[in-house]
Amino acid sequence: MEKLIITGPTPLKGEVEINGAKNAAVAILPATLLIDGVCTINNLPNISDVQILCKILEEMGAKITWNNNNEITIDTRNINKTQAPLDLTSKFRASYYLIGAMLGRTGEIQVGMPGGCKLGARPIDQHIKGFELLGADVIVEKGTITAKAKCLHSNSIYMDIVSVGATINVMLAAVLAKGTTIIDNAAKEPHIVDVANFLNTMGADIRGAGTDVIKINGVEKLHGDATYSVVPDQIEAGTFMLAAMASKGDVLIKNCITKHLESITAKIVEIGGNVEDNGDSIRVWYNKRPNKSNIKTLPYPGFPTDLQPQMGVVLATANGTSIINESIWESRFQYTAELNKMGANITAQGKSAIFEGVDELFGAPVYSTDLRAGAALIIAGVSANGITEVYNLQYIDRGYENIEEKFRKLGANIQRIKE
Ligand code: UD1
Repeated sequence: MEKLIITGPTPLKGEVEINGAKNAAVAILPATLLIDGVCTINNLPNISDVQILCKILEEMGAKITWNNNNEITIDTRNINKTQAPLDLTSKFRASYYLIGAMLGRTGEIQVGMPGGCKLGARPIDQHIKGFELLGADVIVEKGTITAKAKCLHSNSIYMDIVSVGATINVMLAAVLAKGTTIIDNAAKEPHIVDVANFLNTMGADIRGAGTDVIKINGVEKLHGDATYSVVPDQIEAGTFMLAAMASKGDVLIKNCITKHLESITAKIVEIGGNVEDNGDSIRVWYNKRPNKSNIKTLPYPGFPTDLQPQMGVVLATANGTSIINESIWESRFQYTAELNKMGANITAQGKSAIFEGVDELFGAPVYSTDLRAGAALIIAGVSANGITEVYNLQYIDRGYENIEEKFRKLGANIQRIKE
């Protein structure tokens, strides 16, 4: 078992380079199944979710070459299985994208029931509804999902809930379907635009990604033979923006698209922080106690649920009482019990939590309860007085490449130890 040992407090100072977006990468890799050819993907985050997906694709017949730490060339001409390895697909949530992609490619796929962080009930009814409206039969039984279609056809699909995963999955299935598919009430996250851009680079005809109506004109074939660069990770960038705030530091976050960070920038300014927006980099600095604030998580362009725990660390030591309402994942407040072990005064009940700001946090042993909770606990450890031990690093490694090295470069006293 590994753990991080962090000795704080350290005001983080310096520059940090952001990797490609996890949530785009875990969709683009399955999307390569729609190509009968070879393509190169760079700015790929080298994280455990990506490594598992590469293993899954290889087991299905893809040939993957790592050109360097963040670039792969993938040849999907010899895909020869319609069953993805059940044990690996059950390990993480984004394996559901194999369904949309393989329905598009061969009209048949079986995957293990998607797993992932325990954030509460994570239904996939909107994915299934979309596939069925495109002409597929979907059976969910004994921990597996089987989807089959003789021939997918276009349709108009209204999403009952704004869902990132369902929007992308239906888009994948519709790329090679006959006719024009319309997804209404689509999610608008930057990674949805990125997956559409990837597919369009390979020959798809998708319009309107980034708005709530996406139109997919089915094409005969995707050609490959192109290189695509994954969009910078807005959540990783936001994590370091909030780390700068919590630690009373001064950090320049490079390789990001600041337009994607507007909801975070607005909140940071509201609580007193300084932000300098340079378009492809952003500097955040502040050396005082932040003001209280109320937050409600929402689909993009609202405040992202994936930055809620990191913001929670900032508000834990704010001047006054703050309230966070979580509208996406009901179990996202598990980290608050860990922060309370570090001296925070947070009362979480259902979908909201009250943060009575305390003067400071102190070091303690704490357990990551999911990926973003893990990032929040690292920020708390860097900002707290004394020694913090962070356990359950497997969650953090799912979505952040070299996280402790990046914090160390900013001055943090942080070490990964094998026990
Ligand atoms: C994606 C992100 C995750 C982020 C979340 C919300 C990936 C791999 N993961 O997850 O990091 O926290 O978006 O921004 O991109 N829902 C249904 N039925 C469905 C699908 C979703 O009821 O068929 C509900 C969910 O329970 C949740 C809400 O819709 O309450 C949003 O979920 P969704 O956007 O689908 O999240 P994911 O795509 O799983």
